[in-house]
Amino acid sequence: MKNNLLAVVAITAALGVAAPALAGDADLCLDCHEPAEDWEGLSAHEVLATAKDTSIERHADNADLNDEQLKAIVAELLAE
Ligand code: HEC
Repeated sequence: MKNNLLAVVAITAALGVAAPALAGDADLCLDCHEPAEDWEGLSAHEVLATAKDTSIERHADNADLNDEQLKAIVAELLAE
């Protein structure tokens, strides 16, 4: 039981450290988008949903990212 708890703490810590390292991935969207113009008036939720929409052919690469990664990217881009 105690070991499980330690494992959870270790994994959480590892993810916490990994998140900022993902920030550079925001460049992926910037290859094609100017967030302030393209996504004006869209909520983070809408941007996230559209980013995952691979019926937009050019979003095929976004499928390589998991939800957490996309969320971090969208949050970063909308914060600028
Ligand atoms: C290879 C080019 C490409 C990349 C990379 C890309 N997109 Fe797009 N995105 C498009 C195209 C094409 C559309 C279709 C709408 C249009 O014609 O502008 C679109 C549409 C959107 C829209 C709907 C609003 C709009 O601009 O029309 C959102 C929101 C969006 N993308 C988010 C993202 C996010 C977030 C990422 C990064 C994780 C991303 N996109 C990466 C090409 C791209």
